[in-house]
Amino acid sequence: MHNDVEKILFTEEQIAARVRALGAELSRDYAGKNPLMLCILKGAFVFFADLTRAMDMPVAMDFMQVSSYGAGAVSSGNIRILKDTAVPVAGRDVIIVEDIIDSGNSLYRLKGLLKERGASSVKICAFLDKASRRTAPVAADYVGYVIEDAFVVGYGLDYAEKYRNFPYLGILKREIYEK
Ligand code: PRP
Repeated sequence: MHNDVEKILFTEEQIAARVRALGAELSRDYAGKNPLMLCILKGAFVFFADLTRAMDMPVAMDFMQVSSYGAGAVSSGNIRILKDTAVPVAGRDVIIVEDIIDSGNSLYRLKGLLKERGASSVKICAFLDKASRRTAPVAADYVGYVIEDAFVVGYGLDYAEKYRNFPYLGILKREIYEK
């Protein structure tokens, strides 16, 4: 399986250091609060587990799975909830934890939804930001790495449900997703 990877972008060690730094930053910014860390399944689960353990403070955790509506997603304004939170977000300081922001559509819709539901604040913490691909008016508040538009896998990210368990972030060989 590792042969399917063209190049390692970030090693396990590099990622661990970066995520520890993000955790420390969040701990400083949210000191005295009890933020609700919201993991967006599936891709964010690895980042979420490391990030929350790098936060030296009380945090609550919840999980959501969403998907934008197919090709019409850009203009439809809709978001499909595949799995909703277990606790209400009203009055909470929510930190959305995502693996990657691409067009930004999913996060734009999700942020709007959480605000509508009465969250006190909604911030976004994304492991990866493909900034050049952004079409929706949304920005991450905390970012692990800004990356080019490459097909990346590992550290939670998949291609056809494979590679999520790779401990590093790699660029997938073109022949794998074009065959
Ligand atoms: C990915 C990622 C974001 C979204 C980003 O999820 O986790 O949720 O796409 O794309 P956008 O910025 O263009 O909206 P995906 O649908 O691949 O699901 P997964 O996390 O379960 O793999």
